[in-house]
Amino acid sequence: METMARVTPCSVFDRMIRRIESALYRTSTPDQMATAAASALRPFLGHPGLLTPEQCEPDPERYRPHVLHVAPDGRFSVVALVWMPGQETQVHDHVSWCAFGVHRGAETEVQYELVEEYGGQYLQPVGTVTNRVGAVSALVPPGDIHAVVNSGSELAISIHVYGADVRVVGSSVRHRYDLPVRLAEPILAFAQAMA
Ligand SMILES: [Fe+2]
Repeated sequence: METMARVTPCSVFDRMIRRIESALYRTSTPDQMATAAASALRPFLGHPGLLTPEQCEPDPERYRPHVLHVAPDGRFSVVALVWMPGQETQVHDHVSWCAFGVHRGAETEVQYELVEEYGGQYLQPVGTVTNRVGAVSALVPPGDIHAVVNSGSELAISIHVYGADVRVVGSSVRHRYDLPVRLAEPILAFAQAMA
């Protein structure tokens, strides 16, 4: 009797991982990797079958990470971050290149520059962007200092690809910055004039 080969359907998530693997295969620098991973991520954002209900569970206390996948060679990790309205990160930078995209809701990112002056340090905001479903970003250290907040009124979920094994390094965060924030002089003058 002839037997039929059984074809196992490939999940949306598996397809995304394959797309990321294949995009990274053609890269050699952190810049290329972050950009390639961001492009690979984009078509899957917002797909209702991408995550399981458990992977969308928030934590009322703080934004919640769910590690979804680590490459067998540790070359990259995929993590879902689940945010209730108003939940935010501290200002931080990263241990590796990073690509991220909004899967649900809206997130606002503030980018900072670390300024050293007269022996002291402060943070200067250099950009703010609100990303909605389907938007992707790529970061490469150094110069990747930012903070992210769920600025919407509903649950937000973002998918992050890090160029590291997060199980080994423990976190994608290299350093958290607890420093004063100062606006650049022209912005400060404008803000004062409008007050
Ligand atoms: Fe970050």
